[in-house]
Amino acid sequence: MNDDKGHLEALRTPLELPCGKILKNRLAKSPMSDSLADGEGNPTGAQARLYEKWAEGGVALSLIGEVQGDYRFPEKPGNLVLGPHSNDDLLRKLASRATVGDAHIWPQLGHAGALSHPPISRPKGPSSLSLEGLQCAELSPAEIKDLPDMYAKAALHAKSVGFTGVQIHAGHGFLLSQFLSPLFNHRADGYGGSIEARCRIVLEVIAKVRDAVGSLFPIGIRINSTDQLEGGLTETDSLEAIRLLNATSVDLIDISGGTYFPGAKASSDGASSGPYFVGFSRRAKEVSNVPIMVTGGFKKRDQAVDALATGAADIVGLARAMALDTELPNHWLTGSGEDPQFPRFSSTVPGGVTAWFTMRLTALGIDRESSFELDLPSAVQEYDERDAQRCLQWQKAFSH
Ligand SMILES: Cc1cc2nc3c(=O)[nH]c(=O)nc-3n(C[C@H](O)[C@H](O)[C@H](O)COP(=O)(O)O)c2cc1C
Repeated sequence: MNDDKGHLEALRTPLELPCGKILKNRLAKSPMSDSLADGEGNPTGAQARLYEKWAEGGVALSLIGEVQGDYRFPEKPGNLVLGPHSNDDLLRKLASRATVGDAHIWPQLGHAGALSHPPISRPKGPSSLSLEGLQCAELSPAEIKDLPDMYAKAALHAKSVGFTGVQIHAGHGFLLSQFLSPLFNHRADGYGGSIEARCRIVLEVIAKVRDAVGSLFPIGIRINSTDQLEGGLTETDSLEAIRLLNATSVDLIDISGGTYFPGAKASSDGASSGPYFVGFSRRAKEVSNVPIMVTGGFKKRDQAVDALATGAADIVGLARAMALDTELPNHWLTGSGEDPQFPRFSSTVPGGVTAWFTMRLTALGIDRESSFELDLPSAVQEYDERDAQRCLQWQKAFSH
């Protein structure tokens, strides 16, 4: 299997999604909140350039992290927003540059819920919480009822400007993941309790999005294998959720894990040397006919090939590796097989790794990656300063 021909075949074989659309190979660029929108929810030239680079690099599918359908609940002020304020010409340009070479580009439709960025939001989640570093109010039944419509409108908007699919974000502790997680969800009204009840809003969102975009448009979903926290979503419950998703019209289930919760590690901070969720995704494949993508910890071509060739997943998602080398798919799909060089950081700073990779995405978007040399504290400083500035812009743009 590990001969070069086997390598190439496992990675190169196109994947037909249940809706009939084809992903041209088995490598996806996982969603990363790139912080490259303009502070008013619209794309910048640097953002379009970044996704163009990934498309030129041979990737089958790029996911844009954290694209909001409701400006009131963003993850960060550098998020894109699909709504009445949107500049559709700029969105069209982004989608067009991101699809060169038949790459797919799907926005990850988000709602940060309890984790909405406090300077520009009043966070609300499934249940009210008051913890150090996490305060939020509870969504009312009427607000929950409106959610499927919000996702459906955003999906239709995405389709109308040329995006080729959408991913519904139900991972990493953002709103739909909060509903799935007993840590965030203490409701007793039919949206909380058993895993079936915690999954209900997710299924309602999928149904409404499908109604809006029609049967031929790809809909993916990202879900946690586990929250990796005591009291959070367990692997057993996640497998049950995947069984339920298997009975819907979703086209791709992207397995990740980890939750942004006070004191928790981000899934991009994983210290283990190998891919994190391949064991779980193998179990997910046993209960799902919907294609499975697995993301997290892939650093070498052999790891991706093994996951695909042994049937643990149908497609491999890469985040940090694609920030280090936008041409990675072309390298892995041809004979060269070059693996990316991951940086070793000499200090640790909370949020530092994410900030460093985010600032690297900016460098890629402005074609300055060859001179990018930030240490972690400087990356955090630049990232925070830019966000502070954008919060002011966001407030102004969305104040009326
Ligand atoms: C800078 C950065 C931003 C990220 N933003 C998102 C995001 O917006 N949505 C999401 O689901 N995951 C996000 N992630 C997590 C990645 O998609 C991925 O799950 C994680 O980095 C592990 O994969 P990797 O080992 O290939 O990096 C982000 C990761 C990084 C490094």
